[in-house]
Amino acid sequence: MNMIANTALLDPMETASVDELRQHQLERLRWSLKHAYDNVPLYRQRFDETGVHPDDLKSLDDLAKYPFTGKNEVRDNYPFGMFAVPQSEIVRLHASSGTTGKPTVVGYTQNDIDTWANVVARSIRAAGGRKGDKVHVSYGYGLFTGGLGAHYGAERLGCTVIPMSGGQTEKQVQLIRDFQPDIIMVTPSYMLNLADEIERQGIDPHDLKLRLGIFGAEPWTAELRRSIEQRLGITALDIYGLSEIMGPGVAMECAETKDGPTVWEDHFYPEIIDPATGAVLPDGEYGELVFTSLSKEALPMIRYRTRDLTRLLPGSARPMRRIDKITGRSDDMLIIRGVNVFPTQVEEQVLKIKQLSEIYEIHLYRNGNLDSIEVHVELKHEHAGLGEQQQQALCNELGRHIKTYIGISSHVVLHPCYSLKRSEGKACHVYDKRKSA
Ligand code: DLL
Repeated sequence: MNMIANTALLDPMETASVDELRQHQLERLRWSLKHAYDNVPLYRQRFDETGVHPDDLKSLDDLAKYPFTGKNEVRDNYPFGMFAVPQSEIVRLHASSGTTGKPTVVGYTQNDIDTWANVVARSIRAAGGRKGDKVHVSYGYGLFTGGLGAHYGAERLGCTVIPMSGGQTEKQVQLIRDFQPDIIMVTPSYMLNLADEIERQGIDPHDLKLRLGIFGAEPWTAELRRSIEQRLGITALDIYGLSEIMGPGVAMECAETKDGPTVWEDHFYPEIIDPATGAVLPDGEYGELVFTSLSKEALPMIRYRTRDLTRLLPGSARPMRRIDKITGRSDDMLIIRGVNVFPTQVEEQVLKIKQLSEIYEIHLYRNGNLDSIEVHVELKHEHAGLGEQQQQALCNELGRHIKTYIGISSHVVLHPCYSLKRSEGKACHVYDKRKSA
């Protein structure tokens, strides 16, 4: 499958040379720094304090001189304090709820909405979607950027959009059966929930027309990709994004290489930094992903620290660089008896055991001064009849793998099929009972 062969379909920047791309980025970056400095008091103050001015940017490497922006700055300027255009120019607001405190509010001008639709359309096309495809959108509509972001992009590409949003799982499956979409856009964890419901309704997934899933909004592993592809007979590709930078469509995995999301670098300039020191790391090294917006009008973001941990890889299907699969967010990292653990590491181990479903929960407790971890997993329905001894053997096997590959001792609890809580959007894998203890 080599879909890039038809370069006539691509945006000019998708086929530009790396030199052309860097020149474009330098020009856009100068504009973005000036726009932020001239119109957002916070940026002016922070640049002045650091002793830098937008005119100091002579090369892309000079970006490292400018101060970072974090979620706190956006929250402290709640709701609209970081907007760079008058309110009359803002045509849309979204917000990400976060786990605590005030939501992060983001705004868009009409040009921003157009850019967003274009990068999502480009993303769907990179995944192999084409005009006329039916796209079932199960990302939540509303303040979350997933639903409307996917929707506008699919329309821009000329697809038929089914704006289902999240929830109403039974009805979702009925519509997937009746409307026969070609593409589904949804979180990977809600896709699992839909896959269960497809099975429950006695539908053979291979009889559906679905050929492609565009999954993102949460970390997911290569093992989960394989499992979803096998269960549903579709191609599963990774879409990345975050509200502060745009929403979905900041980066998209290309169908022809399937090797991690390509960052749409003509609009979003990526850096990887050492999260402890803030130093910029060379491509290929793991660290925290930082983005600077290159074209955003309403909410320019200069060196925004995403807290997502990954590395930058050279371009493959496009001249733009790729990101490796996100291991997790730095704030999702669990420290268990001194060992750093990401939920995705547990997911990898769970999915290696073929009798277990893809659903898992991590429960953390504190006994005295010691942390303990329970991993709750579920039998697949086709293994519902396993005897007690065999079940115990599975628990032991998973416990052993977690010990060997992650380095922590855990207690594995096996549940009957379909008994753990299912996700309807972003999955919650961790129940930290240490905080309330
Ligand atoms: O989740 C935007 C989005 C919607 C992306 C639909 C893809 C599909 P937020 O709610 O602001 O925006 O959450 C952004 O979600 O910083 C990552 O931690 C995580 N995330 C998003 N996409 C991926 C992905 C949307 N493909 C936060 N892999 C980001 C891993 C992801 N994590």
